[in-house]
Amino acid sequence: MGDREKKVIFSGVQPSGKMTLGNYLGALKSWTKLQDDYECYYSMVNMHAITVPQDPEVLRRQTTELLAQFLACGIDPDKNTIFVQSHVHEHAELNWVLCTMTYMGELNRMTQYKDKSRKSEANLNAGLFTYPVLMAADILLYQADLVPVGDDQKQHMELARDLANRFNARFSDTFVVPEGYYPKETARVMSLQEPEKKMSKSDSNEKAFILLAESAETTAKKIKSAVTDSVGIVKYSDEQPGIKNLINIYSAMTDKSVEEIVSMYEGKGYGAFKGEMAEAVVETLRPIREKYNYLLENPDYLESIYAKGAEKAQIRAAQTLEKVYNQIGFIPKKNK
Ligand code: AMP
Ligand code: TRP
Repeated sequence: MGDREKKVIFSGVQPSGKMTLGNYLGALKSWTKLQDDYECYYSMVNMHAITVPQDPEVLRRQTTELLAQFLACGIDPDKNTIFVQSHVHEHAELNWVLCTMTYMGELNRMTQYKDKSRKSEANLNAGLFTYPVLMAADILLYQADLVPVGDDQKQHMELARDLANRFNARFSDTFVVPEGYYPKETARVMSLQEPEKKMSKSDSNEKAFILLAESAETTAKKIKSAVTDSVGIVKYSDEQPGIKNLINIYSAMTDKSVEEIVSMYEGKGYGAFKGEMAEAVVETLRPIREKYNYLLENPDYLESIYAKGAEKAQIRAAQTLEKVYNQIGFIPKKNK
């Protein structure tokens, strides 16, 4: 554990739709910042995605589209290990071991489970319930020190830490206890239509989210129709959640500070603010979208990246799983 040159990062996104600005600012932007200083494992977590029903053809397509979006956002395939979760079977195996060490009460408390089960009562499957255990397995398999994610994953991160500590205490020091890494202002990018809700790719109202891959016109239109308030002053305040969210997005997409943006629009109305903000967001997304479209034309290249990624990921995952199996008393398979 202690002999590694660089600290290790693990993170993942579900291939359950196109990436939103929330995914980008909450997670992917941190990933690109951290990739030079850490040994990074980034995964398209398709096993998590099937905890809600997915069309097989669409899931397949979205998995490679997600990879193209990772690369378009600046994740360098030569520096990082990028792979499909189901290609490394150790995830499912460690998940099982950790399931036997997780209390029902811990999972019952998970707010994401409570929200999702409220929405899809017809499909209350056990996988949705144990989802956070699989996430802990993802992280612990790679002995990750740091996990860059959005705010909504805080509770899941706590479980991953608790399970690492529990295993280490019950057996012997096996897992690194991981830390969450959350961006400051954009750990929770809010919906453009209901700014008290997080921006989500599964929102039924398409005006609520911005997709990295959508057209510039669509993005600009969505920003211009974002819900604000009747105050009429561009101010960074909890009383104006719509404007606050737009300022956060504007700031993160241009690297201008919140104060700078507020002073730029002193004495100006929401129209001017939204117009210029839309332009700035569109310009930042343009190269990402272009690179994404280019990559989609090169499926062989994408395939070569996830093939290489799975091979590299598996080496580390297998080492951890072997240790775990030893600790818990599974006898090793002997080759004849
Ligand atoms: P998901 O799309 O649920 O797989 O989420 C992938 C990553 O994006 C996770 O790290 C999430 O925490 C992050 N994320 C998703 N939605 C948002 C949001 N609205 N604001 C900030 N981060 C987000
Ligand atoms: N649960 C995460 C999400 O929905 C995705 C995920 C799965 C993940 N495994 C992970 C994130 C491991 C970080 C580390 O956003």
